[in-house]
Amino acid sequence: MSYKITLIEGDGIGPSIVQAAVRVIEATGVKIQWEKQYAGEDVMDKTGTPLPEETLDSIKKNKIGFKGPLTTPIGKGFRSVNVQIRQRLKLFANLRPAFSFKGVPGAYDDIDLVIIRENTEGLYCGVDYWVDEDQTAGISQNIITRKGSERIVRFAFEYAKNKGRKKVTAVHKANILKCSSGLFLRVAGEIAKDYPNIQFEDRIVDNMAMQLVKRPQEYDVIVATNLFGDILSDLCAGLVGGLGLTPSGNIGDSIAVFEPVHGSAPKYKGQNKANPCATILSGALMLDYLGEKEASKKIFQAVASVIKKGKAVTYDLKQDRNDSSAVGTQEVADAIVKEIRSIK
Ligand SMILES: NC(=O)c1ccc[n+]([C@@H]2O[C@H](COP(=O)([O-])OP(=O)(O)OC[C@H]3O[C@@H](n4cnc5c(N)ncnc54)[C@H](O)[C@@H]3O)[C@@H](O)[C@H]2O)c1
Repeated sequence: MSYKITLIEGDGIGPSIVQAAVRVIEATGVKIQWEKQYAGEDVMDKTGTPLPEETLDSIKKNKIGFKGPLTTPIGKGFRSVNVQIRQRLKLFANLRPAFSFKGVPGAYDDIDLVIIRENTEGLYCGVDYWVDEDQTAGISQNIITRKGSERIVRFAFEYAKNKGRKKVTAVHKANILKCSSGLFLRVAGEIAKDYPNIQFEDRIVDNMAMQLVKRPQEYDVIVATNLFGDILSDLCAGLVGGLGLTPSGNIGDSIAVFEPVHGSAPKYKGQNKANPCATILSGALMLDYLGEKEASKKIFQAVASVIKKGKAVTYDLKQDRNDSSAVGTQEVADAIVKEIRSIK
């Protein structure tokens, strides 16, 4: 079987880490025809739009996309292209696993959890405006719907069921945000009744942040509204050794786009310095989604093995970030490709 996949390299470190990931994905032997498309800051400069319609049309046609991070101007400029892609393609579920790798310094070595973040509504719904011309006050609306809550919570329980996971934790702030977060929590409790074999519990988001730092091993599948899921997934990235290690998938009813959790790290653009593992692991999530389970497992196994050996890792996985034995982005990919070829 051969797949046609839309490929967006992205901004900053994007082209380098995506190139590394493409080499690793191809080393599994899965046949892929990449359809290269553009989005982000660079294409905005060239075409006047950061998200050309052609790019969206390509993902709609192929039903699957693989992308690098895209820069969003902070506090001004165009709306996040990532958010636009997720909303326009109805990619309502953002799957963000965080797991420990042996050999990563200073991190827990027994974390295996998945954050499932609602990806299209909440505080990212796009209702964001100034109250007056002088910009003395701003309003951002946190729209949570019953439909959006039902489908993300059901996605979380179905994911738990299919992956043999035991518990779903719903994260909210229903004590204060009684309508928006309150609705999400109420719906989560209702959906949970359809899954009697999966334990269900809830946590207020501030407590959840503390619990994750102290006892991350107690958590399995975490389902959260958009902003809370976004923040908690970076926290979990920190617990397992950094953003260089956390992959993600944006999944809808019939379309999915895979990308690392991290951003475009503009300071490392063109330096062959960034860790490609989050992007490579996003490739493994993509192969799993496509049903290429063996190829997906091979990538996870090869990444784990290279990190454990500790010879071909980037600066962020060294105890001392200035350790001169750290290697570059492409050298990590070389080592992972070699490891994949050695797996029987
Ligand atoms: N999905 C996406 O495309 C996405 C996600 C998050 C942020 N962004 C955008 O990225 C830009 C930069 O944002 P930011 O600085 O807050 O977040 P960032 O994730 O780019 O960087 C945060 C920190 O992690 C480090 N880092 C990130 N990826 C790394 C990697 N692969 N290897 C080693 N170190 C890595 C960076 O150097 C930085 O210190 C912003 O424009 C933001 O909007 C895009």
